Amino acid sequence: MGARFIGWGIAVPDRVVTNDELSLTLDTSDEWIVERTGIHERRIGGTAMSLGVIAGRNALEDAGVEAKDIDFLVFATTTPDRITPATAPMVANELGLKCAAMDVNAACSGFMYAVRTAYGLLETGNKRVLVIGSENLSRWVDWSDRNMAVLLADGAGATVLEYDPTENDLLSFSLGADGADADLLTCEHGGYFQMDGAAVFRRAVRVVVDSAEKALAMAGITADDLSLVIPHQANIRIIQAACQRLNIEMDRAVVVLDHYGNTSSASIPLAFDDARKNDRVHKGDYALLTGFGAGMTWASAVVRWSQ
Ligand code: COA
Repeated sequence: MGARFIGWGIAVPDRVVTNDELSLTLDTSDEWIVERTGIHERRIGGTAMSLGVIAGRNALEDAGVEAKDIDFLVFATTTPDRITPATAPMVANELGLKCAAMDVNAACSGFMYAVRTAYGLLETGNKRVLVIGSENLSRWVDWSDRNMAVLLADGAGATVLEYDPTENDLLSFSLGADGADADLLTCEHGGYFQMDGAAVFRRAVRVVVDSAEKALAMAGITADDLSLVIPHQANIRIIQAACQRLNIEMDRAVVVLDHYGNTSSASIPLAFDDARKNDRVHKGDYALLTGFGAGMTWASAVVRWSQ
């Protein structure tokens, strides 16, 4: 069984918020944010639905398929527009899809959880699945809380996965969850995101390294074989620490958090888009896609691009 990525798309709000702008109202500075996180600016605005629709439409166009060609929409979001209904059916309606549509909430691992779900759907008879990761994190940020305000942002990314009996992009997956760490990063009903940043940092590095090693072993390759690492974009120091432990030089990692901040389930497709625009995605190359997030959840996959 094979599944191929046949198209990608993104959406980011127009409004750019720089570190200097945040420093006007928060006890923080551009210097601190850049040194501790790698983030210089972020995009703020839109909703999970509005951004998701644009990213989804762009992915359909990039894939050269129409709404009627999609059999299932898997919509990853931590920040659905409403508790119910899910955001997916509304996005499907806007895109003209006439298929099943559901949300997946695995926080910042959401995109990879959605890709894993899509793979399973292709295995069981669906021909094409649209996967969208879309976030409106800014809505749930207390803008007077410097701990979260400097990190989180809005954006969306999407891909179309197609069943292919002869070619396969997705060689292996390693996903996990550990609810014992649920309180490390939370957002209660009617509340705001709250986090034990240092504990999340330590745990994130461990789960990324562990799941990456498992996915690499399952794919039958080593870290040396990877041309690219497309990690969840939370903090440059987390990416550096994980790459160092995996013996991967940083020039193989895609980093877009400097201008997008942490966009949760949108961050991996946003990073992919950047890699492709910079001609870093080549047929036959191996890539590691890896994410972690609240839950805690984590998810790594080894990909070999078929186009
Ligand atoms: N601006 C300025 N100073 C800040 C600050 C901010 N936004 N946030 C914290 N500080 C201060 C602290 O009060 C502390 O001051 P002190 O030394 O006087 O006590 C100092 O900076 C260091 O704080 P600390 O929390 O130890 O910083 P850190 O290097 O651990 O960085 C995070 C904090 C949040 C950036 C980092 O822990 C992190 O990125 N964690 C993971 C978060 C994450 O990835 N979440 C998403 C998961 S998907």
